[in-house]
Amino acid sequence: MSGNSKLLISDFNVGRSNEVQIGTGEGVFFVLKDGRRVIDGSNTGASLGHRHPDMVAAVKAAAEEPVVNDGWYWPGREAAIDELIETAFGGDATLVGAVRFALSGGEANDLALSLAQALTGRAPLVTRERAYHGINGLAREMTVQPHWHGGLSSTDGGVRPAARLADVRQLPMPRGARIKGAEEDLPAHELRATAVELMKDSAAVIVDYTQGGIYHSPEFQDTVADAARETGTLWIADEVVTGFGRTGSWFGFEGGERRPDIITLGKPLAGGAAPAGAVLLSQRVAEMLDHERWQTFSTFRGHPVMIAAMRAHLKVHARDDLVGHIRELDAVFAAGLAEIAERHPSVTRVDGRGAHWTVELEGPDWRGWRADVAEAPLASRVANRALDAGALIGTSGEQTSLFLAPPFIVEEPEVRQLLDALDQGLALADEELEESKVTSG
Ligand SMILES: Cc1ncc(COP(=O)(O)O)c(C=O)c1O
Repeated sequence: MSGNSKLLISDFNVGRSNEVQIGTGEGVFFVLKDGRRVIDGSNTGASLGHRHPDMVAAVKAAAEEPVVNDGWYWPGREAAIDELIETAFGGDATLVGAVRFALSGGEANDLALSLAQALTGRAPLVTRERAYHGINGLAREMTVQPHWHGGLSSTDGGVRPAARLADVRQLPMPRGARIKGAEEDLPAHELRATAVELMKDSAAVIVDYTQGGIYHSPEFQDTVADAARETGTLWIADEVVTGFGRTGSWFGFEGGERRPDIITLGKPLAGGAAPAGAVLLSQRVAEMLDHERWQTFSTFRGHPVMIAAMRAHLKVHARDDLVGHIRELDAVFAAGLAEIAERHPSVTRVDGRGAHWTVELEGPDWRGWRADVAEAPLASRVANRALDAGALIGTSGEQTSLFLAPPFIVEEPEVRQLLDALDQGLALADEELEESKVTSG
């Protein structure tokens, strides 16, 4: 807890980084309570930025709709599903045979994982090292990093973890990188053998496309997908971050050849204007439910406000060709970050796609993460300096990772402004690196 506030804010380390107080938002900017106007640099939920006029109008209109729960048919939801398939999936009904809405990405993952257990009659679940899939139910179990697992960080006892409840196995994480710090990945045949061994009695394998700064190759995806088919494991593509264009295509899985059994969505699904999630079953998996009822109910899933926001988001997306826009921005980010990586000795690794990038700093390896540091972690201190330079940049809660994920509607000059603020922040990491060399030398 902090100061006079009774709000239990999310924080991973005991060391506090900053106490940012948001006043309002305008497009891709936050206006802080102290009056500063800063770029919203890492907000995967705010795909259309803040107070987008189409979203404001849609949410206002939705207040006139009936309050319908998850257990009734309501034409607005049916229409939304048709529009989703048409706009985001190019009308491909084999990819989406049935949809269940959810309140968040984490809930969607929990639903998908428990469905896979019921369908296969198996319990074990597979993810990859350094994964984040949410913080509730089975999603929390698949979130394998200690600081993201719902425990406590304390000044006197390191981490006090919440109990783990499921048999979870981890695929080795790929370590490629587009800009800096690439390491060798396992050869495909070794990955395949490892994956088959881990999956042979498992219900599902879930893989996302950005978390932990891992942007795996299409070959990684397809190898894992093939191993899943071989072992009778369902492949869940966690597109909570990447669905709707974040990395320059409608979905992350489009990079490879294989197509998922189940897709989960969240974050940008409703354009940031409402909490949202969804589980999309491929036609093949939907057919497995022909003689079944999926016994899970929640009051506000697919609420009319969420549905209206999602439909408005789809329209804006298609009208403004946001996927094409992000694909263009990819080159701006890549060139700017290559210069930054070159200029700053403290930067060890840079990877990303489209409008999602990770910058890793020299410092303790993520496996050695500590919760009981009284001082804010290095990445947070860098982010603080970047904030003074005009951008709010997120960290993953580790000591050394920063990530950039501005709204889809960000324009090139604003990307440059964001990178400039990062550049200024990184000067701090360089200074500290230099000092540590002097001290240890
Ligand atoms: C890949 C991935 N999956 C799932 C989630 C969970 O989404 P939510 O925070 O909406 O529960 C996140 C959140 O950061 C995520 O990055």
